[in-house]
Amino acid sequence: MAKAIVIYETAYGYTETMAKAIEAGLKEVGVDVELKKVMSTEVEDLKDVDAVVLGCPTYHHDMITTMKTFLFKMKKADLKGKVGAAFGAYGWSGESVEMMSDTMKHIFEMDMIEQDLRMKGTEVVTGEEECKEFGKKIAGRLK
Ligand SMILES: Cc1cc2nc3c(=O)[nH]c(=O)nc-3n(C[C@H](O)[C@H](O)[C@H](O)COP(=O)(O)O)c2cc1C
Repeated sequence: MAKAIVIYETAYGYTETMAKAIEAGLKEVGVDVELKKVMSTEVEDLKDVDAVVLGCPTYHHDMITTMKTFLFKMKKADLKGKVGAAFGAYGWSGESVEMMSDTMKHIFEMDMIEQDLRMKGTEVVTGEEECKEFGKKIAGRLK
């Protein structure tokens, strides 16, 4: 069974709602998924996974520091060729998502799901189905 990990940060819960719906989408098509907040994630957690999915909202045109720090730690894991995807809630500019996916693509050389998933906080409430579909799309790359 393919394995994925969804690692996220959030301040007010919107990105967490997205993370849970993406997890549900992955599970629905038979992927073994672990959902973790970035603070409680270690590099060892990435060892046996086929896909790494990162989620972070944008604050002051940037990622939250915990996710930034984790990206430095991720450099120690061998992620080359593994499937990667990025998502996050935002208000008007949403830079965090591209920052994560750029790092995953150019530094970790991951096989990225090209269309990242950014969602305005106000859209998350009605956007859970879209997040689920994103999870299924990631799963599709694993087959
Ligand atoms: C102090 C503050 C700064 C913010 N800065 C940005 C920003 O630079 N760009 C942006 O797109 N959204 C910005 N936002 C909006 C958040 O990204 C948005 O509310 C998002 O849904 C929060 O997601 P979360 O609930 O997962 O933390 C900001 C919000 C606050 C409260």
